[in-house]
Amino acid sequence: MTTIDDLGDLRGRTVLVRSDLNVPLDDDRITDDGRIRASLPTLRRLTDAGARVAVVAHLGRPKGAPDPAYSLRPVAARLGELLGTDVAFADDTVGDSARATVAALGDGQVAVLENVRFNAGETSKDEGERQAFARDLAALADVFVSDGFGVVHRKQASVYDVARLLPHAMGGLVQTEIEVLRRLTEDPERPYVVVLGGSKVSDKLGVIDNLLGKADRLLIGGGMVFTFLVAQGHAVGKSLLEQDQVEVCREYLRRAEESGVQILLPTDVVVAPEFAADAPATVVPADAIPDDQLGLDIGPDSQRAFAAALADARTVFWNGPMGVFEFPAFAEGTRAVAQALTELDGLSVVGGGDSAAAVRTLGFDEAAFGHISTGGGASLEYLEGKDLPGIDVLDDPVDSVDRDH
Ligand code: 3PG
Repeated sequence: MTTIDDLGDLRGRTVLVRSDLNVPLDDDRITDDGRIRASLPTLRRLTDAGARVAVVAHLGRPKGAPDPAYSLRPVAARLGELLGTDVAFADDTVGDSARATVAALGDGQVAVLENVRFNAGETSKDEGERQAFARDLAALADVFVSDGFGVVHRKQASVYDVARLLPHAMGGLVQTEIEVLRRLTEDPERPYVVVLGGSKVSDKLGVIDNLLGKADRLLIGGGMVFTFLVAQGHAVGKSLLEQDQVEVCREYLRRAEESGVQILLPTDVVVAPEFAADAPATVVPADAIPDDQLGLDIGPDSQRAFAAALADARTVFWNGPMGVFEFPAFAEGTRAVAQALTELDGLSVVGGGDSAAAVRTLGFDEAAFGHISTGGGASLEYLEGKDLPGIDVLDDPVDSVDRDH
């Protein structure tokens, strides 16, 4: 796989860098800048080499047209603060503003292009439409560097198609992420414990399926717990439930028992009558959730059990918060798991935008974890053993498509 080292002298050359700058925003205030900070080493490396750097990235899921709520402008401003230098901003991705902004870059300077998903071609399922947009992107630069690990599972123009049009390399962030995740899939030190949370069971099904044959213990928290509890025959009140996944969860519980993998579900749950920061919280047994309540966190007994199940682990992968950590009354489950990971004598990997943001929001020192991945879906798909188009394409030679149309 080609790395930045293999690209030769970059002085004066324009490098298009795909970064993942998809950060959580509250209006235009960035609530967690972890992904922006993670993008810095590669950008610095390129500017130090004298490259003219055009950063292409997305924010949220706008519908293929400009939408001010998803502008990358505040992100570009934060990037400038963190780099300690002026960062130019183009009002479009491949239009007049982008072309002029990139053309005005001097050696070692950086510009951010407006949200790539403001262009329908970026995410189009129509290959021709995607490739046409990729050609416009490629026309801006001499070289492409893929450094947005969080999007490498997406077959999108700025991730996949553009790499087929320009000399390309894997950025340092993607390289590090892949190296760490490989340690989880190739002969992990045991016990290997995986903690899964977050709201959607359906997002995690593939990884659960795959891990049943690999991990020693699977700890399940977050909103997806309730589908498992229903699979065990319990009522879950007003809690989040994916009824169409109940049977699948039941099957996983059966397979786990068969294969000797321990699946740990919470035995108690923090419930409230509604989803709100100030809703009155009560702890109830997981098999006795009242009809008029919904579960918003794992309870104190479960926190202790989860911490105990992590104490002797030598390898841990954690994806998804245990509860609604954004509300202090429902943050303790997530805090307990994060705390247990910091005390681990082994490799701890935190994957996923939400869990990574949780770790920082709850005030943990990032250095206390083995690795905090910038990829949510991407790290899960890697662990599922799926092909990642944005990685695989970097092995391919540059296409013969004429990028100048
Ligand atoms: C993420 O937040 O996981 C990445 O930025 C990918 O975003 P997407 O799921 O909208 O493609």
